[in-house]
Amino acid sequence: MKKFVQHETASFSRRSFITAITAGLFAVAVHPLMASTSAASTSAVSGGQKVLIVYYSRSGNTRVVAESIHTALGGDIVELQTVHPYPEEYRATTEQAQKELKANYFPPLKTSVDDISPYDVILVGSPNWWGTFASPVRGFLAQHDFSGKKIAPFITHEGSALGKSVADLKTLCPSATILDGLAVRGGRVQGSQADVGQWLKRLDLSK
Ligand SMILES: Cc1cc2nc3c(=O)[nH]c(=O)nc-3n(C[C@H](O)[C@H](O)[C@H](O)COP(=O)(O)O)c2cc1C
Repeated sequence: MKKFVQHETASFSRRSFITAITAGLFAVAVHPLMASTSAASTSAVSGGQKVLIVYYSRSGNTRVVAESIHTALGGDIVELQTVHPYPEEYRATTEQAQKELKANYFPPLKTSVDDISPYDVILVGSPNWWGTFASPVRGFLAQHDFSGKKIAPFITHEGSALGKSVADLKTLCPSATILDGLAVRGGRVQGSQADVGQWLKRLDLSK
């Protein structure tokens, strides 16, 4: 798999977020998600449990962690991609993301997962955006019925760690069992294999 790793150059700053708060809300327009990509196979790992790793990554950090989890665990892996890319510019993306969060807007996806029913455990990866999952991941979580599934979040961040992602997961997926989450600093994703390994061990997941 081609690796694309680009760390955020501008670190998360509370001031930049407060500045962005001045941006007004735009109209609520919830587009239907385009579920165009299915995971290729449903390989069984960890005592017969079928695992899906699904993630969004704007600038590459979360992708590094997702691939590290995939290397350690196997299972299927899907990257969520939006139809319209977010702006290159960091500040513009934070402003857009804040508007999306306030409006509960989910951007249309050009890749997603058609059917999560074969999976027992779903590891959901996202950058921390405004203290929670990025909009494309919130859209994915809102789109599916996770009844009877186990879900564990993994988040990359610049200081807010898991933020309120776990609480939001419980709200978005009330019928799922929420497992412990993993938080990795964006600048430390390259050295995160040991943390990933310990996290998977805590979740009792292995190849
Ligand atoms: C729109 C946006 C909002 C963000 N909000 C936060 C935040 O609330 N807390 C935080 O610690 N980092 C925040 N960050 C920093 C990212 O979580 C961090 O750089 C992450 O590792 C990026 O992951 P990615 O490379 O997979 O996109 C934000 C970044 C962006 C672009």
